[in-house]
Amino acid sequence: MERSELEAQARQILLGNLRRGVADWNGKEFSFVVPSLTGYPFQWFWDSCFHAIALTHLDLEQAKAELTTLLSGAQPDGFIPHIIFWEMEKQPDFLSRNIVGMTSPYFSATIQPPIVAYAVERVYRATGDEDFLNAALPVLTAYYRWLRYHRDPDEDGLIAVIQPEEAGTDCSPKYDEALGLEELSNQGFIAALRKVYSAYEPMRGDDRRILEADIFHFEDVLVNSIYAFGMRSLARMLGESPEAEEFRREADKTRDALVGKCWNEEAGAFFDLCGVGEEQVEVVTISSLMPLTLADLPRNIVERLVGEWVSNPEHFWLPYPLPSVPASNPKFMPGNPRGFIWRGPTWVNTNWFLSHSLRGHGYPELADTIVAKTHEAIELSGFREYYNPYTAEGLGARNFGWTTLALDL
Ligand code: GLC
Repeated sequence: MERSELEAQARQILLGNLRRGVADWNGKEFSFVVPSLTGYPFQWFWDSCFHAIALTHLDLEQAKAELTTLLSGAQPDGFIPHIIFWEMEKQPDFLSRNIVGMTSPYFSATIQPPIVAYAVERVYRATGDEDFLNAALPVLTAYYRWLRYHRDPDEDGLIAVIQPEEAGTDCSPKYDEALGLEELSNQGFIAALRKVYSAYEPMRGDDRRILEADIFHFEDVLVNSIYAFGMRSLARMLGESPEAEEFRREADKTRDALVGKCWNEEAGAFFDLCGVGEEQVEVVTISSLMPLTLADLPRNIVERLVGEWVSNPEHFWLPYPLPSVPASNPKFMPGNPRGFIWRGPTWVNTNWFLSHSLRGHGYPELADTIVAKTHEAIELSGFREYYNPYTAEGLGARNFGWTTLALDL
């Protein structure tokens, strides 16, 4: 597809999914893109960051508005929710179809992968708008400190998620055992989640207590790779200052903990740590590759991840790479039986992270193939939520917001 055609289609989706107004519950203006008008009609945290990055190619004012709206959801203690229910009144049935942990009717009590500082950095670099930057910096600083305080009680540099949706990779097979998943289906997943949610009910909102209860406690590799990546952006934006030093130090600490605690030398992959006891969960998924986003990952680790996993046709190197689960995993599902997602299909956001990372680590051919195949999948099947890694059949939501990251590959 010609670049101009790609841009025209992406613009149609992003502007078609745009929501603008003033919320009657907090009096704030909102202007953001929903991931999907039908499936996901609110503001999702990491989706919004990806939308803003795509918008830097199309509409700089809207890119700023997207992030300003997201940051306006920050709470006084620094927390920024995973979902903000702008215009909930127009979606009365949403919560009967979907569950999410809440302490407020207007936003979730959960987080998503903390990519926001990087998104702000991209929008700032594209616009040069100092007012935008100066308004964002204190919110970002408070947010990354909130994560450290509330989600890293053992102070090892790794933050923990309290339910799978917080990692953005909802039904990944790496959570099956911890969730006690009895039925391998979306229904089975929701039933298992309900148990976690009801155990949390008396403590919802007190994340340190939730983590101590050790019900679902994952120091997730994807989340922590993005946490370190985000803090590096924040440090760059803070210039030469004690705060910049603080976040540089914290990012190094997270990188060192990923290498020291999550790297498994025998498997040649990174694994999440489960529970307060920090047991490695030895299931390779796309998140096992995500530390590649760190430019200073030790070279021997980069080479093993790329040589043994990424470029291996038995694992991730399928016709439309990179699948969310390697083909060698017995639970690999290249389709999405009834919305049972993140178990095989290829997603554009992880391709965006990993194609840039591979290029940065000196693998331009692999990066070029991922980019070309992603564009081909979009050309064949439209801007879908995810794709079958063998056929590029489009799956999940249509006109899906973050697939427009194809503009930024
Ligand atoms: C699904 C994805 C999650 C995403 C959300 C909205 O739940 O797993 O990562 O943020 O949809 O698109």
